[in-house]
Amino acid sequence: MVSSYTRLLTAICALAGSAAAVTPLKVQGKDFVNSKTGDRFQILGVDYQPGGSSGFTKDKDPLSDPDVCLRDAALMQRLGINTIRVYNLEPTLDHNKCASIFNAAGIYMILDVNSPLTNGYLDRTAPWTTYTNAYYQQVFGVIEAFKSFDNVLGFFAGNEVINEDATRLAPAYVRAVVRDMKDYIAKQSSRAIPVGYSAADIRDILMDTLHYFECDLKNSTSSRADFFGLNSYSWCGDASYKSSGYNVLTEDFSNATLPVFFSEYGCNEVKPRVFTEVQALYGEEMTQAFSGGLVYEWTFEDNEYGLVQVNDNGTITTLIDYDNLQKQFSKLDMSRISASNSTQTGVDPETCSSSLINNSTFYNAWNLPDAPSKVSDYIKNGLPNKPSGSLVSVTATTLSQKVYDYTGKELTDIKLKVLANGESNTPSNSSSSSGSGTSSSSSSSGTSTHSNAASALNGAPSIALGGLGGVFMLLASLL
Ligand SMILES: *[C@@H]1O[C@H](CO)[C@@H](O)[C@H](O)[C@H]1NC(C)=O
Ligand SMILES: *[C@@H]1O[C@H](CO)[C@@H](O)[C@H](O)[C@H]1NC(C)=O
Ligand SMILES: *[C@@H]1O[C@H](CO)[C@@H](O)[C@H](O)[C@H]1NC(C)=O
Ligand SMILES: *[C@@H]1O[C@H](CO)[C@@H](O)[C@H](O)[C@H]1NC(C)=O
Ligand SMILES: *[C@@H]1O[C@H](CO)[C@@H](O)[C@H](O)[C@H]1NC(C)=O
Ligand SMILES: *[C@@H]1O[C@H](CO)[C@@H](O)[C@H](O)[C@H]1NC(C)=O
Ligand SMILES: *[C@@H]1O[C@H](CO)[C@@H](O)[C@H](O)[C@H]1NC(C)=O
Repeated sequence: MVSSYTRLLTAICALAGSAAAVTPLKVQGKDFVNSKTGDRFQILGVDYQPGGSSGFTKDKDPLSDPDVCLRDAALMQRLGINTIRVYNLEPTLDHNKCASIFNAAGIYMILDVNSPLTNGYLDRTAPWTTYTNAYYQQVFGVIEAFKSFDNVLGFFAGNEVINEDATRLAPAYVRAVVRDMKDYIAKQSSRAIPVGYSAADIRDILMDTLHYFECDLKNSTSSRADFFGLNSYSWCGDASYKSSGYNVLTEDFSNATLPVFFSEYGCNEVKPRVFTEVQALYGEEMTQAFSGGLVYEWTFEDNEYGLVQVNDNGTITTLIDYDNLQKQFSKLDMSRISASNSTQTGVDPETCSSSLINNSTFYNAWNLPDAPSKVSDYIKNGLPNKPSGSLVSVTATTLSQKVYDYTGKELTDIKLKVLANGESNTPSNSSSSSGSGTSSSSSSSGTSTHSNAASALNGAPSIALGGLGGVFMLLASLL
């Protein structure tokens, strides 16, 4: 009797101590799937680098200021975002609050492991000079800092490293980084977090790049990329499936054997952006080749992308692009988008062979460089003095900043909605553009779409967070 009471209490404490969490995703064939329900996951994402690339320093990265993360997570939730991509991270900063906030909002994270600082990236013109032990302080440091968060969808080993300026050997070095990261994760992480590459849209070498990373190498299976991102801006204004060349991309990637998505999209040559490409990207044809994409980018910076504007007086304005994207997202049929497809999950990779590479300028061998001298020790024993991260309770849900829409009207009802365990964020249905932001569940496993716990939790967000009320609720539901 005592022991079963103790067991119950232990179970409750364990539940109460861990905040609500999204379910980890995994790669199956050419799809991302929910590791519990098997539902397909498609990325409705936004690239997240407040302050632009110069907003990053050793003391400040996009996931180090919880006030800003709370503001942005709440506004992204309302928009329908389920994934952010963060380009530059400093492993030693405290990311627990931000990662937990995005997790509570039902938003996954794709994290680039490189940084623009010294020893933070591969030099594309001479990668052998920067492929060093010191570089792995950054790469493995980011893995350590984030590996315990269930909402890490994956890591990018590189972004647009292979371009017109790159040396011929660059692909072999990036594939070696993929190998080292996956070997590290296999040994040092309890979960097989996927690792991928984000490519520039250089059509002459795009298919060669895809084939170089996706093929199976018998003597180094871990060097195969788990997913492939494409930065593509070919749909401008109210273009069409054909005029944008999306039809060609769909054809090109139709035989891919890993998940492919736009790691950046959203041409701004025509303003404001109307985001009509959303209906194509998540339409029946394209979803056979693509798993969604991430809009470039969240905040308005000098290069004039941006869905929101951070004002000098500390307030924030949702721009007309935000509203336009929200309208497009709200039209999507999420039950079709998250339907599992065994044809897609059943594909197998091809074996690496020089015949896969078409352009004679592209490297067509897979003799990958050996890892720097200390890397095998790091993989075996973990990075020395490694950073760490862990989920924390999210208690604050109201924003400290005022929010305005693009007409200047103040939006007063913006709050973070802490989702129930296992939920991820989805666009709100109907034309409720005035922002109740009610999300509906992405889990379509038989139950069809049901409204998630966000609205039920509205009054008492601490329930899912292990407050005292949470313990009683859990007790009540267990007994
Ligand atoms: C091969 O790629 C180079 C750029 O890397 C490009 O200039 C050239 O046109 C390509 N050749 C073919 C046949 O696609
Ligand atoms: C895809 O595979 C099919 C069947 O093997 C083939 O006919 C087609 O040419 C391939 N498409 C591309 C773009 O490689
Ligand atoms: C499943 O995927 C295959 C290959 O991409 C596609 O031809 C088929 O239409 C999909 N089935 C459904 C129900 O979407
Ligand atoms: C802050 O700045 C924005 C943009 O300039 C303006 O619309 C808003 O009224 C200001 N709010 C306050 C509280 O000063
Ligand atoms: C929204 O509602 C329509 C019609 O009821 C339905 O077809 C669609 O799947 C729903 N979309 C989402 C995102 O739930
Ligand atoms: C290489 O190019 C030829 C001719 O353009 C094309 O038929 C073939 O599908 C290409 N192969 C690959 C692997 O891209
Ligand atoms: C692994 O196989 C590739 C392709 O066959 C080859 O180029 C490379 O040298 C091999 N690597 C080792 C360490 O044997």
